[in-house]
Amino acid sequence: MKDDPVLNFLRQNSQTYVSGQTVSAKLGVTRAAVWKEMENLRKLGYRIDARSGRGYRLTGVPDKMFADEIAFGLKAKVIGKSIVSYDELDSTNDAAWRLGEQGVKEGTCVFAEFQKKGRGRLGRHWVSPKGKNILLSILLRPRIAAAEASKLTLMTAVSAAKAVEKLTGKKPGIKWPNDILFENKKLCGVLTEMSAELDRVKFVVIGIGVNVNSAGRELPPGSTSLKEIAGRAVSRQEFARVFLARLDEDYQRLKDGKFESIAAEWEDFSVTSGRRITATVLGRKIHGQAAGIDADGALWIRKDNGLQERILAGDVHHVLPGSGR
Ligand code: BTN
Repeated sequence: MKDDPVLNFLRQNSQTYVSGQTVSAKLGVTRAAVWKEMENLRKLGYRIDARSGRGYRLTGVPDKMFADEIAFGLKAKVIGKSIVSYDELDSTNDAAWRLGEQGVKEGTCVFAEFQKKGRGRLGRHWVSPKGKNILLSILLRPRIAAAEASKLTLMTAVSAAKAVEKLTGKKPGIKWPNDILFENKKLCGVLTEMSAELDRVKFVVIGIGVNVNSAGRELPPGSTSLKEIAGRAVSRQEFARVFLARLDEDYQRLKDGKFESIAAEWEDFSVTSGRRITATVLGRKIHGQAAGIDADGALWIRKDNGLQERILAGDVHHVLPGSGR
């Protein structure tokens, strides 16, 4: 669907009807070609109202993650400048990784309607029914040391939390490092993978799965969706545009050396800081109270033995009050 001139013309004039004659004259194609393209667009799910004597008007777009649809209205500096979308993939992270190895430019976004091998953090699976949610990976080439990559993960969680708040009017929480929760149920997960040489990052793939319109039994246990929290279906295209615009701004901030301001926003959404937690780091369990993140995005834990420990990666379990461990 990329750069379809007829579709672009209808989009730009969606407040009014445009005659077939006007479209054909403006685009320099025959009226028969215009009519044929209208039919093709309808087959793809576009709603085009046709009125005799007035012409055509675009009245609805399909709920599909078409690259061109997502790109429409995005003013990306980096993230979202190039978008590709697939009906089905192994994993969007794998597809973005392949693009990374081919030298594709940073900011490229890969969307899929379905993943056959979607993965989560720590070797878990990420399962999502076809056509309901967002499965997205973003290729970045940041000039940072490998040890700083966790900043990108926290940044992504902040951008996603802001997009959730904007689209639903409800403030989500972030569980360290990057799970977006609402009322303790998981809404969105982030998986950051990195190709690095010694201390130089070659590229980073940030994968994000957002439960948008899955509901009820379609959701894994302990999960929720934007639809469940908003009480109505949410446009996946709109969420993607809002999220990518936020991420583009936040990435610029990070590149400008302003991670502290992102960390402050992270703390504002954090549901981990101040909580009793059990962190698992390479199989070792740490019990204590989460103190918050530092300028590198590492989590500080006040351990039960009185010492403090700083962790850069791992899994955090929030201990419910009164439940012990
Ligand atoms: C987690 O919470 O464990 C992270 C989940 C990340 C899932 C997304 S879906 C898009 C991208 N492709 C994948 O295979 N995984 C990430």
